[in-house]
Amino acid sequence: MPRLSARLALAQETSAYSRVDPPCRYFGSCGGCSLQDLRYEDQLALKRQRLERLFSELDQPIPPIAIEGLDDPWRYRNRAEFTFGWQEDRLALGYHAAGSFSRIVDLEDCHLLPQAAMRVVREVHHLARESGLPPYHPKTHQGFFRFLLIRYSQMTGQVMLCVITTGGHREIIEALAHSVASRHPAVVGVSWGVSERLADVALPDSVSVVYGTDVLEDQIGPFRLQIKARSFLQPTNQLADRLYTALGEALASASAGVAWDLYCGLGLVTLYLSRTMRKVYGIDSEAEYVESARRHAQLNGVTNVEFRAGRVEEVLRDRRFWLEEAKPDVIVVDPPRAGLHAEALSGLLAARPKVLAYVSCNPQSLVRDLRELLRSFPRYRLRHVQAFDLFPQTNHMEALSVLDRVG
Ligand SMILES: C[S@@+](CC[C@H](N)C(=O)[O-])C[C@H]1O[C@@H](n2cnc3c(N)ncnc32)[C@H](O)[C@@H]1O
Repeated sequence: MPRLSARLALAQETSAYSRVDPPCRYFGSCGGCSLQDLRYEDQLALKRQRLERLFSELDQPIPPIAIEGLDDPWRYRNRAEFTFGWQEDRLALGYHAAGSFSRIVDLEDCHLLPQAAMRVVREVHHLARESGLPPYHPKTHQGFFRFLLIRYSQMTGQVMLCVITTGGHREIIEALAHSVASRHPAVVGVSWGVSERLADVALPDSVSVVYGTDVLEDQIGPFRLQIKARSFLQPTNQLADRLYTALGEALASASAGVAWDLYCGLGLVTLYLSRTMRKVYGIDSEAEYVESARRHAQLNGVTNVEFRAGRVEEVLRDRRFWLEEAKPDVIVVDPPRAGLHAEALSGLLAARPKVLAYVSCNPQSLVRDLRELLRSFPRYRLRHVQAFDLFPQTNHMEALSVLDRVG
């Protein structure tokens, strides 16, 4: 029912736009993309209007909002997460059906993934069926095959896979891995993740490499990266470079100072800011990401950066260090969809940076947090808002906002 009302709301919101034929035959049944029947220019206009509407709730004049999209809004994704399931009595591999918790749409193709990656997905689908082992069912908790994670390097064309199953049958996964790699030389590594979790999430309890490597060589802008199967990376490298470059440009007024990159993930914002700032500190709660961020700094010869593992709201409690030794001129935050923890927000306010940038994949939580920030400290002025359509054909977007302290 909520799904139906969401569809009706979308139809109403987009009633002024003319419709085009969606190229994907699963449009409407697959829960993936819902904007495919709008021209790409209209998708961009819709997302910009949504952002303008949300920002108009702030008690401040808002700067003009621009949105940057992709030159080609198809086959742009560098990663995807597929789910195994049943379709009638056959093993299916695809995405969740619209509005369904357990039904999987068996996909021959996904127009968001490059053809080379899709060929590998079809091969795994075929081999999993051939194995005779059943897919997992999220209601009965019976079955073997659970998820397939795929990463594709837009720079090198390399592919890396992680097959997630319940336990046992290592020999089946090893045979599958060698078979897929022998037919698709772009596959540089296959990992096997085992998950006995009842929750329907692609989060393995343990991971081991069954073929090749667990590191994909990639690049965003000038920076070399080594990506693991589950690392967070923006979904398309070309526009990610534009986002981080625009962020660096918007912070140029505070260059040569100290910056914090909060929720730093693999350290990309840190690397981009290291080019103009004297020192950059990155913080992330995932120890594995922080390790990757350190490796990325080393790999790229960047020395004026330092990373800490821990939750932002906890790490910033050491006020003596953060407000004296590492006192920032600039803070960049890029939290997960839920937005900022109240204690993280108070840490930012205590630091009172000259410039504060907030990058977000969820404009609702972004505007909610900005409202709270401006209420507690009204001396910030919104200087720059820009959107990046990193997710064409879907309702998602990435937004960048920059505030200056005026007193
Ligand atoms: C949207 S990603 C940011 C990615 C990064 N800025 C980039 O551009 O690649 C959000 C990050 O927040 C981290 N995270 C989630 N909760 C956190 C917390 N309470 N404290 C610190 N990091 C957190 C996640 O591990 C993830 O890397």
